[in-house]
Amino acid sequence: MTDAAATAGTGVTPSLVGRRVQVKVPATSANLGPGFDTLGLALAHYDELEVSVPDAPVLEIEVHGVGAGEVPLDASHLVVRAIAHTFERAGVPLPALKLVAHNRIPHGRGLGSSGAAIVAGVMAARGLLEGVVDFTPDDLLEIATELEGHPDNVAPALFGGLTIAWVTPEGPRHKKLMVHRGVSPLVLVPEHEMSTALARSLQPESVPHEDAVFNVSRSALLVAALIQSPELLLQATEDKLHQHYRAEAMPETDRLIRALRAAGHPAVVSGAGPSILVLASDPSERADAIALVEAAADTEWQALPLAVDFKGATVVNAER
Ligand code: HSE
Repeated sequence: MTDAAATAGTGVTPSLVGRRVQVKVPATSANLGPGFDTLGLALAHYDELEVSVPDAPVLEIEVHGVGAGEVPLDASHLVVRAIAHTFERAGVPLPALKLVAHNRIPHGRGLGSSGAAIVAGVMAARGLLEGVVDFTPDDLLEIATELEGHPDNVAPALFGGLTIAWVTPEGPRHKKLMVHRGVSPLVLVPEHEMSTALARSLQPESVPHEDAVFNVSRSALLVAALIQSPELLLQATEDKLHQHYRAEAMPETDRLIRALRAAGHPAVVSGAGPSILVLASDPSERADAIALVEAAADTEWQALPLAVDFKGATVVNAER
C-alpha cells in the first residue's frame, strides 16, 4: 500500500469529513468439497453498506435485514473492526463513522457472512481513503485475511468468480478464474447455525497420506471441472479432508448430501456448514435437487438458486 498524500509531497492526511461510500459484497461458498481453506466461489447474493464520515465525534450504526437486533452496534461490530484495522494498517487515524448496513447473507450458515462483513469494512476504508492511500489487490486480501484467519472466503468476496487462494511468507495470494457457463449453483440453507470454530475443532492434526493424495487429485480435477468440464463435477467434489470429520456436528446436512450425491448431484458442505452447495450443471438439475431435499429433510431448508458473481466487492464514492 502506498501513501498517496506523502507521494504527492504533502505528508498530511486531508480531512475525510463529508466522504460517503457505498459498498456491495457477495456471499461466498468456501472449500467446494476437496479445496479446504483454498477454493472459494462468489455467489450473487449481497450485503450492502453505506459508510460516511460525519462532522461530529460519533459512531452510529444501523443494521437492517439479517442480524438486525442481534449484532453489536458499537466498536466491536465486525465491519467497524475491519474499517479500524484497515485505517491502522494504512497509518491513518480512524475518523468518526456512520454506517447503514442492509444484510442479506445468512449468519452462521457457511455462506461467508463474516468474510463479507470484513471485506465490506476493508472496501469501505479503501473508498474513504481514496486519494490518500492506494491499496493493491494483495494489500486488500492480506488485511482481510488477517481478520478472517484463512483466505478462502475473503478472496472470492473481494475479487468474484472462482478463486484459488494460498498463503506465502509474504502474505496470502489469489488467482481468479471464470466459471463455465453451465455451472448453476444451488445453496440449501437450514434453520440452524454452525460455529466455524466448532467445525475446525473436529478435525485431526494430521491425516493419512492416501487421503491427502485423494484430495490433491480431486482439487486439481475440480478446477478443471468448474472452468471447462462440468460433467466431471460429481467425482471432482469428493473429499476426505474435512467433511466426514465434521458430520457428527451436522447430521442432517451429512444425510442430505449423501442422498443428493447418490442421486448424481455434486453436493458438498458450503464452507464450515451447515448449508449445502450443489454445483448443478443446469437449472433443471437444481429443481430435481430441491425436490429431493424437500422430500428427504426433517426440518425446513431454504433453497437459493444463485448465479456466480464475477465482479466481487465494489465500492462507489457517493459524495465528498
Ligand atoms: N475453510 C473454512 C473452513 C471455511 O471450512 O473451516 C469456513 O470459514
